[in-house]
This record gives sequence, C-alpha cells and structure tokens, in this order.
Amino acid sequence: MEVPIQNLCQANDLKWRGVSLFIMRLDTSLDFDYTEDVYNPSDDSYMLLKVVEVSSGESFLEMGSGTGLTAIHAAKAGAEVTASDISPKAVECTKRNAAKNGLRIKTIQSDLFHDLSGIFDVIAFNPPYLPGAANSTSWIERSWSGGGRGCETTVQFLGEAWKHLAPGGRIYLILSSLTGLTQVLKAAKDRYEVELLDEKRIFFESLYAYRLRLKPSSF
Ligand SMILES: C[S@@+](CC[C@H](N)C(=O)[O-])C[C@H]1O[C@@H](n2cnc3c(N)ncnc32)[C@H](O)[C@@H]1O
Repeated sequence: MEVPIQNLCQANDLKWRGVSLFIMRLDTSLDFDYTEDVYNPSDDSYMLLKVVEVSSGESFLEMGSGTGLTAIHAAKAGAEVTASDISPKAVECTKRNAAKNGLRIKTIQSDLFHDLSGIFDVIAFNPPYLPGAANSTSWIERSWSGGGRGCETTVQFLGEAWKHLAPGGRIYLILSSLTGLTQVLKAAKDRYEVELLDEKRIFFESLYAYRLRLKPSSF
C-alpha cells in the first residue's frame, strides 16, 4: 500500500502475523488544543507516537491519553480507538481534540482498567513515571507522579493489561531512567516478552520505549 509521506503514516514493510503495520509519524495537519492542567506533549509523548505500530481496523487503547496525541493519530490511521485517562480534564481535552479533527474515538475516565472493559490489539501507555505522591489531588501532578519509586502505576498497569490484550496483541510503553526500571522489568518478565525499541538521552534522564507481547504460556 502506498501512503504519501506527508500523510499520517509512512508505509513500510513491517508485518505481524501477516498484517501490514504502520509506524506512526507526527501529522502536522492534525490540530491540538492544550489545556493548563493536562500534560503537554513532550519528548516522551513523541517517542510513544514514533514507536507505535497499528493497522487500520485494529482495536487500540491509549491509556493515560492526556491531550490524545497518540490516540488521535491512531484513529486517523483507521484504528478503532478508545482513550482513557484518570483525569477528567484530560478526557475532556482528548474528546475535544478528536472532535476538532473530525475523528471518532471512545473516551472514558478510568483509574487504569478499573472502569474499562474490552480487549485490544494494541495498548499504548506513556505513564506517569517520576517518583512522587501516588494519590495527589492535583491532576497535573498525576500526569508525572508514578508513586514513591516512580514505577507503582506502571507495575499495576502491567498486572492488569494482559487481561485486556487480544491474542498476538502488543503493548507500547515509555519508561525513564528515573523510574524504578528494575522493578518494572521484573514485574513484566514472567508474563511478557519485552523488547527495547528506542532510547533517547535528554538532559537529565534517558527515555526508553518498549514493546511487550504476552508469552505463549500466559494465554
Ligand atoms: C506522562 S502523561 C502522558 C499523556 C499523553 N499520553 C502523552 O503522551 O502526552 C501521563 C498520563 O497518564 C494519566 N494517568 C496517571 N495515572 C493514571 C491512572 N492511574 N489511570 C489512567 N491514567 C492515568 C495522567 O492523567 C496523564 O494524562
């Protein structure tokens, strides 16, 4: 399939179980509103967008959608998108940005999977990964504070995400050198095959993008 370079997705020869996948690229024709209390897309957001592979018709969940950057790109790629966030302000912002770009996505406010049902081919999460208060009442603080060691939200996410993953499904996850990386990878290794896809040094930390797939023994 040929996709013009200026469009959302750059065609490549990536295949997974016979299905062509597309790695997303920033689409500058999409228009986003930013809100004070919602995480402003940053290096980690763009890293997630860069590594996610999705094909038209796949079911896609963005956990912790913030402004909806990745969810909305996935919707433009033709995926069936659900975007979820613990913050009502982020849910509202994602919904508004989807409407602004004429794209249909389902939005839901949920603490991880608590109020979410469904099975997804792809789950993407740029989690709050810095050490900080676990249950802050500030929505913007919840966007970066992942618990005492920075990894608690992510570890909980991994403990629940597998139940919402379709056979052959994949998770894309951003982590930082400031997260309790050892704890996260330890929590992941029994159930998931973990691949490092990308790594970037920014001035005070390194960012890592991972792809996780369920081990056959976990089905
Ligand atoms: C680092 S921001 C990423 C936002 C957006 N996905 C991006 O990449 O720009 C983390 C997001 O996760 C949300 N979040 C934090 N804890 C959560 C939880 N327990 N369940 C769902 N979302 C959560 C925050 O509100 C925030 O929008």
